[in-house]
Amino acid sequence: MTDAFTFILPTDIRYGKDITSELSSLLQERQIQQVLLVTDPGILKTPLVDKVIGYIKTAGAQVAVFSEVSPNPRDTEVSEGARLGKEANAQAIVAVGGGSPMDCAKSINVLMSLGKDSIKEFEGSGKVPGPLSPYFAIPTTAGTGSEVTWSSVINDTDNHYKMTIKSTYMAATVALVDPMLTLTVPPAITASTGMDALTHAIEAYTAKNANPISDALALQSIELICRSLVTAYRESDNLHARDEMMMGSLLGGMAFSHSDVASVHCMAEALGGSLDLPHGLCNSILLPYVMEFNAPAAINKFSHIAAAMGLDFQSESEGAEKAVGFVKDLAAKVELPQLKELAVTPDDFPQMAAIAMKNGSTPSNAREISETDYLNLFHKAYQA
Ligand SMILES: [Fe+2]
Repeated sequence: MTDAFTFILPTDIRYGKDITSELSSLLQERQIQQVLLVTDPGILKTPLVDKVIGYIKTAGAQVAVFSEVSPNPRDTEVSEGARLGKEANAQAIVAVGGGSPMDCAKSINVLMSLGKDSIKEFEGSGKVPGPLSPYFAIPTTAGTGSEVTWSSVINDTDNHYKMTIKSTYMAATVALVDPMLTLTVPPAITASTGMDALTHAIEAYTAKNANPISDALALQSIELICRSLVTAYRESDNLHARDEMMMGSLLGGMAFSHSDVASVHCMAEALGGSLDLPHGLCNSILLPYVMEFNAPAAINKFSHIAAAMGLDFQSESEGAEKAVGFVKDLAAKVELPQLKELAVTPDDFPQMAAIAMKNGSTPSNAREISETDYLNLFHKAYQA
């Protein structure tokens, strides 16, 4: 029978057109007087931030804005955001943006709520001792699923690697998810965030901690993303494709929260952490090679992935092979570069392989993997 598992979902998910307007009543219900809004410099320039500030003010609350969030958020930015939040006596956090502001907001909330200064002491799983201030997430990309996950990936600027801080207390209190907000996302970001979402779903489905509920979420996520990513990339205002991508990202985020990500993310975080590259792009480059490596250990699951992609195949191994080919084609169709096109050389790979090996998600990979395997996979991706 099914192995024992638990499934919790700490976030109240509200999905639909103009759903962000519910922020006013959510703040009022909780009698929030002061909010810290976390975003990034790009989103800050868009009308969305003014709209969200309007919702906060309608609730009768004041707002302090922290927008100094990098694409790969840094520990120093977390400390600075928390300092601003504490200075403003913020009682809640609202994050507007992609994975970077949302991940940064989760870690800011840890420091702000607990009166701490450095996020490093919370690195790892389960180090946050108790409930934090209410946190409301408003995603503007279909990719990270950060609005429904309870982990935060932050760059350790002293040691130049990405650390993960994980606790269910860090999950958004409410996620306000409106696919309309993604209509203006530029094609390159649609591509990289979409490939990140697909990686979440594929890794969640094949990771060792997968359970039947995360499997159902992951397969549906794969189907939606594989059907709509190219359209969302080519026709930015195609609402049907944007809707499917947003839902795919959300389901993928829920899936990997309960299962895990695995070796693609371990390698991507090592690559992105040292070169400050977009997370989704790193995943996209490495995903097919890790799939190829993992397929023998979970061949039937890889054939299910092929079926979710809508592929025809006669045997499980043919399905797995076609799924790898599909991912390579997809990355090419959305015009993402290959590893050799980036500012990286094979001399960098041994250190990246060592960092990937130490990643907390390495043990979750479908197939046991060594540092040498990681090194070989980096070389394989480079030779493509
Ligand atoms: Fe990711």
